[in-house]
Amino acid sequence: MSALLPPTERIWWKQPLDRVEGTWIAIALLWCLIMFFMMPYWHVYGKQNTPSEAYRITPQAFQQKAQEMVDKYTVRTEANGALPVVHPPAGSDIYLVARLWQWWPVYELEKGQSYRVHISSMDWMHGFSLQPVNINLQIQPGYDMVVKLTPDTAGPFAIICNEYCGIGHHTMVGRIYVADKKKE
Ligand code: CUA
Repeated sequence: MSALLPPTERIWWKQPLDRVEGTWIAIALLWCLIMFFMMPYWHVYGKQNTPSEAYRITPQAFQQKAQEMVDKYTVRTEANGALPVVHPPAGSDIYLVARLWQWWPVYELEKGQSYRVHISSMDWMHGFSLQPVNINLQIQPGYDMVVKLTPDTAGPFAIICNEYCGIGHHTMVGRIYVADKKKE
């Protein structure tokens, strides 16, 4: 029976199921079940899970924590002094501010060290997308998203905003440097 033509029998649903149709339903159902069980499986055994740690925080309180990092650990500046480059101690909690239209500040991290990266927005929703690594997070104001990060490759990484956030969205690009060893 073709679906393109009107059924010859008016009560078509009383006819027995075709073998081919039944086979495809079984294949689709089996695939659904595989996909379904992959979700908990990948949560436990996958290597790149999105973090599930988040706290409530006001933009003001978050901004203040970021400012403290900048005041303490800035090693140089970029963009004619406008953008601080911060080299925090290995293993520390660091604070990355998302706001119109900037990721602030620039961080310089050490390869092989772990950091707890806190990210929050000062205004509305932004998207944290670390390039060229496949990490994607929604960043909301009022929430402190925590990512455990252990860089295993040296070099510059770009942060791109991937949630449309207004006229300057395309200019909202940040940077994280990963250095091989701490410069003295
Ligand atoms: Cu921030 Cu788009």
